[in-house]
This record gives sequence, structure tokens and C-alpha cells, in this order.
Amino acid sequence: MTVALAGLTLDPAVFLAPMAGITDLPFRRIVARFGAGLLVSEMVASGEMVTDTPSVRAKARTDLGLGDGALPTSVQLAGREAHAMAEAARRVADMGARIIDINMGCPAKQVTGGASGAALMRNLDHALTLIEAVVGAVDLPVTLKCRLGWDRDCLNAADLARRAEAAGIRMLTVHGRTRADFYKGQANWAAIREVVEAVRIPVIANGDITSSAAAREALHLSGASGVMVGRGAQGAPWRLSEIAHALHGTTAPEVPQGAARAALVADHYEAILSFYGRDLGLRVARKHLGWYADEARIDPGLRARIMVAPHPEEVFALIAEAFSSAPARAPEREAA
Ligand SMILES: Cc1cc2nc3c(=O)[nH]c(=O)nc-3n(C[C@H](O)[C@H](O)[C@H](O)COP(=O)(O)O)c2cc1C
Repeated sequence: MTVALAGLTLDPAVFLAPMAGITDLPFRRIVARFGAGLLVSEMVASGEMVTDTPSVRAKARTDLGLGDGALPTSVQLAGREAHAMAEAARRVADMGARIIDINMGCPAKQVTGGASGAALMRNLDHALTLIEAVVGAVDLPVTLKCRLGWDRDCLNAADLARRAEAAGIRMLTVHGRTRADFYKGQANWAAIREVVEAVRIPVIANGDITSSAAAREALHLSGASGVMVGRGAQGAPWRLSEIAHALHGTTAPEVPQGAARAALVADHYEAILSFYGRDLGLRVARKHLGWYADEARIDPGLRARIMVAPHPEEVFALIAEAFSSAPARAPEREAA
């Protein structure tokens, strides 16, 4: 199953979700090794981008990895001012983005307090001015990511979808929660169906899709054209490829075991250190190392030593020790 988007074919229809602080270039590259139909960048704050100096913009180009044609990357923009959104869209288009996504789903107070992210779902007229500004600014396909609504009394994703489609949005991803839900409870995949039925553009289901069985159920209940996976890929960059294999018959990923798993984790660790520099890299890497350790069920004592080790050389040695001897995991199996 693929998604066609204004001349682009997103294949397979299993996409990596944008996650601020997580889906940076090193992580997107690791996920891309196994395969994904689309990788969405961390959210880029449009206001900050357009006031940055040229050297900061040059850094953003490298950070976003848009020169890397092998990665099907969508750049997500967040903001509340139409002119800043349009200008940021032009800049990331010039840098080589293939798709621009607009964030209308982020529940964080710093973002909604600034009336961007999910707060835009409380004011669809204003949301539409941003959509029109971005669509009008670039020739690239523009997509949108939102939640079901602001809260249970304001479930307006289908309204937003209809208006967004009329304004030129080419694809919509819906996280099956409201802003008031934050990340609590279970994503409501069935509620996404109303959005699917409201528009002709592809709608992608998102939220709690952590396995092939969950992806199958989400597609069944929502009628969506594809799935987007966020937290399910943490510590398991092969997850999207596993789901694509189970649902769409693409080649199964070779999930690295033993020494190969240790090599993958070490590669990712090294990429983080070179991307962020040693000091920041050491800190940024810890959350990924923790997820890899949980996924591989590393002995808790060894996990704790990895998390506090102060020098990269020590971390590399502990990665080799911990992951080389970790018990092999059976390939994902689905209930019939
Ligand atoms: C740490 C973190 C950061 C996130 N950052 C963004 C973001 O920058 N933009 C966005 O649209 N969604 C963001 N999200 C939401 C995810 O894209 C996704 O909608 C949500 O996690 C539900 O999907 P999942 O259950 O597969 O993780 C973030 C989620 C997490 C956990």
C-alpha cells in the first residue's frame, strides 16, 4: 500500500512521526536503514527560523539533512503567524524539503500557549490563514498533522480536514486523541474514520501504533490510507519496516541480534556524538540507549551503568558487553 502525493509516491504507507528531541537526523538515518515511506523532521519553529542569522540557517540545513536525497523527508513547521510560516516554508523548500507539514497537534503548553500546535484547532479560521499562507508560498505538497480536536466537546478534525483540503492540503495525519487527552488513555482509531470519510485526500492514522497487530487494527477501524509510528520506533528503528512487511508484504527487516545489535546501537551512538558534539551528545544519547536497553531486555544493573557512564569510551565498551550477549528476540509474530 502506497500513498500518492502530488507526484510523489510514499512507499510503504508506514511513516515515522515527528518527535521533538527524538527524530533528529541521526535517528531518521537509522530508521531509514530499515525502510520507511516517509520521515518527518522534528518540528521547526517558524518564528525562530525566519529571525535566525544566515549561519544558523546553514546549520539548520545540515541538521535537517535535506541535502540527503536518500531520505524521504518532510519538514514540519509550527507557528502562529502566517508570514513567518510562509517564509519558513520557502526557506526549507530552498533547502531541499520534499514535503512541508504543518503542526496542529502539539499539546505542549509552550506551544499551545503561543496559540500554535493543537491550539489552532480552537480557531479554525486562523488555522486556515496559516494553511493558505504555506500552500501559497511553495510548490511542494503541504500536509497537516492534527488531533481529533481540542477536547471531547470540540471534536472538529473532520471540519478542519474539509477546509484544509479545499485550501490545498494534500494529506492529513490524525493522532487519535484530543489536546485535553495529552498522551493519556488509548488513541481512538475508530474516531479517525469520520475524518477519512470527510475528505478525498489520504488520511494517516496515528497514536499507539506499536506493532503490526495494532497497525492492522488502526487501519481497520479508521479506514485510513496508512499509519504513522512515533514512540513504537524508539529503541526499535526496524519497527516501521516490520509493520510494512506484515501489512503490505514488503521485505522483512533483518532485526539485528547479538553483536549486530551492539554494532547498530554503537553506530547510532557515534552518530549522535558527532552530530551534537561530545557533551550534548552524551546527554541526548541516554534516552535512546535506555530505549535500546529496554527493547533488548538488558540486565537492569548493566543498563544503569550505561546510563551514568561519563565517557564515550566507557559507553562503547558497555554497549558491546550488554547488547552482544542480550537474548535473541523472536521475530514479531501476529495473532491470526
Ligand atoms: C517526545 C515527543 C515529541 C513530539 N514532538 C512532536 C512534534 O514536534 N510535532 C508533532 O506533530 N507531534 C509531535 N509529537 C507527537 C507524535 O508525533 C505522535 O503524534 C504521538 O506521539 C502519538 O503517536 P505514537 O503513539 O506513535 O507515539 C511528539 C511526541 C512525543 C512523545
